[in-house]
Amino acid sequence: MKILLTRRLHDFAIKELRKRYQVEIHSGRIPMPKKLLISKIREKDGLICYPYDKIDADVIEAGNKLRAISTFSVGYDHIDIKRASQRGIVVSYTPEVLTKATADLTMALMIDLFRRVTEGDRLIRKGKWKAILGPYEFLGSDLHGKTLGIVGMGRIGAAVAQRARSFEMNILYHNRKRVSAKMERSLNARYVSLDELFRTSDVVSLHVPHTPKTHEIVNSGLLRKMKKTAFLVNTARGKIINEKDLVLTLKRKIIAGAALDVFQTEPIGSSNPLTRLTNVLITPHIGSATAETRRKMAEIAVKNLELSLAGKRPIYQVKAESNRSGLL
Ligand code: DGY
Repeated sequence: MKILLTRRLHDFAIKELRKRYQVEIHSGRIPMPKKLLISKIREKDGLICYPYDKIDADVIEAGNKLRAISTFSVGYDHIDIKRASQRGIVVSYTPEVLTKATADLTMALMIDLFRRVTEGDRLIRKGKWKAILGPYEFLGSDLHGKTLGIVGMGRIGAAVAQRARSFEMNILYHNRKRVSAKMERSLNARYVSLDELFRTSDVVSLHVPHTPKTHEIVNSGLLRKMKKTAFLVNTARGKIINEKDLVLTLKRKIIAGAALDVFQTEPIGSSNPLTRLTNVLITPHIGSATAETRRKMAEIAVKNLELSLAGKRPIYQVKAESNRSGLL
């Protein structure tokens, strides 16, 4: 059988794949240009892809022999699940193993925003430390006692709540469905409407997948409701925010700042207006990027593909009817 990888994976994973399949690895531009992807997917039985690869109906149609798509991610909004299931292609993904790493990054960004860590680093490098020696200069704010609003209380949202609890933050959340009373108690989290969450939180953290329902759910309407001193953190998916609205909101200082690990289109370059704003912290989609987590993801991505191509159930299969009801 022949498989295609849209990017290199760990050496141990490639070695494992080469034992069973004829492996082709794309090594050029990332994401792989659509035309090239379409030409390379022909005659392939399996595909390992990444969140920035758009596996749309055209790509799926071109994969005349395709039986399995294994994405190296928890998110699968980049794959046309409906079309794949109509073609009988098994789609699999890598949830759970990246929950803690993503929650850790969310906390790191939150702490950075509150305590101005990156801003301090930039200031020193510009030789401006002397300018902030006074007692009222360069003050951040405490995390303890502040209100964190979590949008999407799935695995990652809950892991963030757990961490924020030990920072003595008050936790509000909004979710499609209220979680169990037991879980609310254990996380010390209170269910509120989206509107109340945006109005009353000191920091809002997004943990919903990108679906037609969550597309640009955060727009000027919601952003305008936030406190002037509040922050927004996004480690979920860029497309759940209307980026133009956010840029305007940050430019006009309607909110204090934002930390973003994900963007409407990735990768972003220095021409993206976000890179010119001083009240935004940006990271290159590194939610799951720890050596340990990425290794586990690679193990699962390989196993998922192998099982699917052997006609067995992968470890984590995306449900055919999924309009992404599973939570991040
Ligand atoms: C995922 O797995 O979907 C993450 O966004 C990757 O970091």
